[in-house]
Amino acid sequence: MKKLIVGNWKMNKSFDEAKILSEQIVALNNAIKPNADLVLCPTFTSLQSVSQAIVDTPVSLGAQNLYPHQAGAFTGEITASMLKDFGAKYVILGHSERRQFLHESDEFINEKVIFAQSNGLMPILCVGETLADREADKTYDVIKQQLLIGINNASPEIVIAYEPVWAIGTGKTATPEIAQEVHAFIRDLLVHQFESNAQNIHILYGGSMKPGNARDLLLQKDINGGLIGGASLVAEDFLAIARAA
Ligand code: PGA
Repeated sequence: MKKLIVGNWKMNKSFDEAKILSEQIVALNNAIKPNADLVLCPTFTSLQSVSQAIVDTPVSLGAQNLYPHQAGAFTGEITASMLKDFGAKYVILGHSERRQFLHESDEFINEKVIFAQSNGLMPILCVGETLADREADKTYDVIKQQLLIGINNASPEIVIAYEPVWAIGTGKTATPEIAQEVHAFIRDLLVHQFESNAQNIHILYGGSMKPGNARDLLLQKDINGGLIGGASLVAEDFLAIARAA
């Protein structure tokens, strides 16, 4: 399966900065031609500038969230068709920062997953344990709950991102062995739900993935790509990760 390398820009980059960064990524991608599919997930306000920069290139567009209703009185929210207006194909859902700071529940995230799928967007569903979960030996319980509720009634048109919360933005990375173990566990749960289709689902690793550690992580059997935060904000680093794939 071709690796999928997704840049999660979080709340970074102005409209103009996003334009420059996406143009740099497109130019490097054309020059290097890595054997990986690239997706950029800028802020909502930069969807337009990024979508213009990547038009007619192999780079795809994603968003960082959506609200699971078609329209209406939902101040501050955004729906799938609005993201698709800019050509978005993917949407990150259930990121740990939204679970932590905005108290999103597994059930609400599941609603978003179903809504994204039924409106033609590919969800990138994030799951991952905190340091406290890991130290209390609850890693697998937490992942199982987040994943099974998250994909309840969903179709296999989905990407999963395993992001141990203790590794996000901390410079600590799960070792390739630790990550592979969790990825294999996720694959088993997906097989249970989706049978043979589970083998085609990308399971991304996220959490301080960098040019220096990407190769060893991406060599693991069930690590099919990366969800990259910090290192996706520098075109050379993002492409170095894609090249490692
Ligand atoms: P990081 O973020 O690469 O900066 O650790 C990953 C993520 O949160 O998606």
